[in-house]
Amino acid sequence: MIKLSNIKISKKNFELNIEKFSIEDGKSILLLGNSGCGKTTLLKLLSGFVEKYEGDIHFENQDTMTSIMLQNPIDQMITPTVETELKFSLVNRKIDDEIIEKKIEDIATYFDIINLLKNNLRELSFGELQKVMLAATFLTNANYYFLDEPTSHLDHKSTKILYNYIKEIVNEGKTVIIASQNFDEYLYSDKTLIMNNGKIVDYLDSSKINENKDRIGEYGLRSSNDEIVRILHAKTPRRQGKGIRK
Ligand SMILES: Nc1ncnc2c1ncn2[C@@H]1O[C@H](COP(=O)(O)OP(=O)(O)OP(=O)(O)O)[C@@H](O)[C@H]1O
Ligand SMILES: [Mg+2]
Repeated sequence: MIKLSNIKISKKNFELNIEKFSIEDGKSILLLGNSGCGKTTLLKLLSGFVEKYEGDIHFENQDTMTSIMLQNPIDQMITPTVETELKFSLVNRKIDDEIIEKKIEDIATYFDIINLLKNNLRELSFGELQKVMLAATFLTNANYYFLDEPTSHLDHKSTKILYNYIKEIVNEGKTVIIASQNFDEYLYSDKTLIMNNGKIVDYLDSSKINENKDRIGEYGLRSSNDEIVRILHAKTPRRQGKGIRK
């Protein structure tokens, strides 16, 4: 369990305020909220990247190890190639070379980046880079993963692969928080956490999202399906003027 109390982070035009909040272990949690509401700030705080803050963060789990995937994967690149980047996540763990190779092969196959192993990170497409950085993040063997908009450039298939992987590790007891702009990812996550203006305004079982859509809509969040339905149902204005009358 992660327990937050009396958290305050002040920036020039922004304040993050969390009075009391707990996140249970062994869940996948979708973090939604409009641009600038504080998602990245919260994930960085949880992974120990924020130096100046007031309040307490307490991980109840004894052997806590956190791993974050940054919103811009370019900021996270350390080595030149896909293979070296994946290896980098494992080198400090004193694992035999054979096991390292097997782990890299397994995860690269899972995320469909096996053909990219020898490629230069700087030559990858943005979506490919996100997949590589996800694989590298998961190789760290943390028990808390904080993923900052990992699906922003992923196609539908890769998004599903990611959430399948998350489901597997959550079943092993890991906790994963995924910031996203895609409301519909609640379909794949256990819980949904909603932020607005630097505050946590809702935290509910994802299965309850549908019955609470009106309330959630007040924060400007909406399913892309709702939007499609709205567009399809909107009346097309009839053309006025000199047309051929039927
Ligand atoms: N170093 C900084 N100095 C001043 N303001 C900052 C700094 N870093 C972030 N902010 C501000 O803090 C607020 C929250 O930023 P944050 O990156 O957490 O939002 P976000 O919810 O992740 O947004 P997005 O969806 O666009 O990624 C923003 O208004 C941002 O401008
Ligand atoms: Mg962000």
